[in-house]
Amino acid sequence: MADVAVIGAQWGDEGKGKLVDWLSARAEVVVRFQGGHNAGHTLVIDGAVYKLSLLPSGIVRGGKMSVIGNGVVIDPWALVAEMDRLREQGVKISPANLVIAENACLILPLHGELDKLREEAAGKGRIGTTGRGIGPAYEDKAGRRAIKLIDLAYPETLPQKIERFLTHHNALRRGFGVPDIDKNALMKALNDIALAVLPFAGPVWKLLHEARRAGKRILFEGAQGVLLDVDHGTYPYVTSSNVVAGQAATGSGLGPRAVQYVLGIVKAYTTRVGEGPFPTELEDAVGQKLGERGHEFGTVTGRKRRCGWFDAALVRQSLRIAGVDGIALTKLDVLDTFDELKVCTGYEIEGQSYDYLPAGIDRQTHIKPVYETMEGWGDSTEGARSWADLPASAVKYVRRIEELIECPIALVSTSPERDDVILMRDPFEG
Ligand code: GDP
Ligand code: IMO
Ligand code: MG
Repeated sequence: MADVAVIGAQWGDEGKGKLVDWLSARAEVVVRFQGGHNAGHTLVIDGAVYKLSLLPSGIVRGGKMSVIGNGVVIDPWALVAEMDRLREQGVKISPANLVIAENACLILPLHGELDKLREEAAGKGRIGTTGRGIGPAYEDKAGRRAIKLIDLAYPETLPQKIERFLTHHNALRRGFGVPDIDKNALMKALNDIALAVLPFAGPVWKLLHEARRAGKRILFEGAQGVLLDVDHGTYPYVTSSNVVAGQAATGSGLGPRAVQYVLGIVKAYTTRVGEGPFPTELEDAVGQKLGERGHEFGTVTGRKRRCGWFDAALVRQSLRIAGVDGIALTKLDVLDTFDELKVCTGYEIEGQSYDYLPAGIDRQTHIKPVYETMEGWGDSTEGARSWADLPASAVKYVRRIEELIECPIALVSTSPERDDVILMRDPFEG
C-alpha cells in the first residue's frame, strides 16, 4: 500500500482539493507540506462548497488527522479566520484532528504589506502574486530571521527575536516610505493570537513517523503547481516554495521515502492566474468560453484566470521533473461543447523546434506552440463515473493526452462534485 502525494502539474488550480478530498476517504492522515494561504482548494460535497487555503482538505471529512507541516508558511490570523469559517459550515476542528508543525514559520501582517508594496512598485514588471506575503515570509525563513510558531510559546524571549526581525523590516519599510512597525504593538498582537494557535502546535515529524510505523495511510496535499515551483517553474513568475513531490519529505520531516506514489493533477486544458509566460493562452472567444464554462476565477483573490489549450509538452516536462507516477485528468466536462480542440505537442522559436519549454523568461515569452487538432464530442461528460459513459471522441482525447504526456491516467474528474470521478488505477495500490 502506497502513501500518496497529490501535486499540481500546471500553474495551480488543477483540482487538487477535489482529488485530495476524494482520496482522503481511504487515508488516515492528510498533510500540507508547502505554500500557505495563497492556495485555494475547493471541495463540493452534495452541493455545499468548502474553500480551504491553509487547512488540509482532509479536515472536511470527519475522523481524519490533518497536519500542517514545517514547509508551510502560516498566517495565524488567516488560519483562525479559516477555522471559524469552516466551523460555521459544520466542520469539526480541534487539536484532536489538527496538528501544526511547531517549527513552521509565520506570515505576519507586514509580509502581506511588503508583498503588495513590491508589486505596486514593480508596475508592469509585477508577478501578480496573491498579495498574501508568501514571498517575503519564505525570504525571512531563508534569511534566518523568521518568527516560528513555537516562538509564541516563549513570550520572554520573543522581544529579542522581534527586534532582530524588525531591524531588517523597518529598514526596508523606510525605503518604501512607510512607517516603522512598533515592536510592542507587534508583540501584543502575537501574544493575543498565540492563545488561539498554540494548542495545535506539535512535533509533526514525530507524529508522522508514529503514524507510519502504525501502518496508517498518509496522503500529502500539494499546493500550486510545478510551473510555479521556485526552481522548476517559469521564474520569476513563480511562487516562493518548491511544490514538487520531493518537498513532501522536506516539508513534513519524513525523509525521502515518504511517498511511494505521486499523483499529478492535470486540467484538461490550461489556466494561469497572475503574470508570466503562457504559450497556449487564448485571448479570443475560445479562451473566454473556457473561462466561463470552467468558472475560472481565483478562489483566493477572485481574479480571472487566463485560459488556453492543453499543453502536452509542458505537462510531460512537469510530470518528469516532479516524478509523477500517474495523473488525474480534471475538468474534462468543461470541453463538452467545443467543436474542435487543440493540443500543444511542442514549440518553435527562431526556427528551432523544442519538445520542452526551455528555461529563461526571454525564450519562454516568445515561444510559439505547435498544435494538433482533435474533434470535440458535442455530448455531455458531466458527472460521468465510468469509462463507458464517455463519448468516443472524449475517450480519444483522453487517450491521446495520455500518449503525449507519457504517463498513465489514474483518474478522470467530470464535475466539481466529490464523487464524480472515473477510477482507472488506484493510486494507493502504487
Ligand atoms: P486546486 O487549487 O487545485 O485545488 O483547484 P481549485 O479548487 O482552485 O480550482 C478547481 C475548480 O474546479 C474548483 O472550483 C473545483 O470545484 C472545480 N473542479 C474540480 N474538478 C472539476 C471537474 O472535473 N469539472 C468541473 N467542471 N469542475 C471541477
Ligand atoms: P492552488 O494551491 C494558482 C500564483 C499567483 C502568482 C504566483 C506567485 O490553489 O493551486 P504568491 O502569492 O504565491 O507569491 O504568487 O503564484 N499562485 C497560484 N496560482 N493557484 C495557486 O494555488 C496559487 N498560489 C500562488 O497567482 O502568479
Ligand atoms: Mg486553487
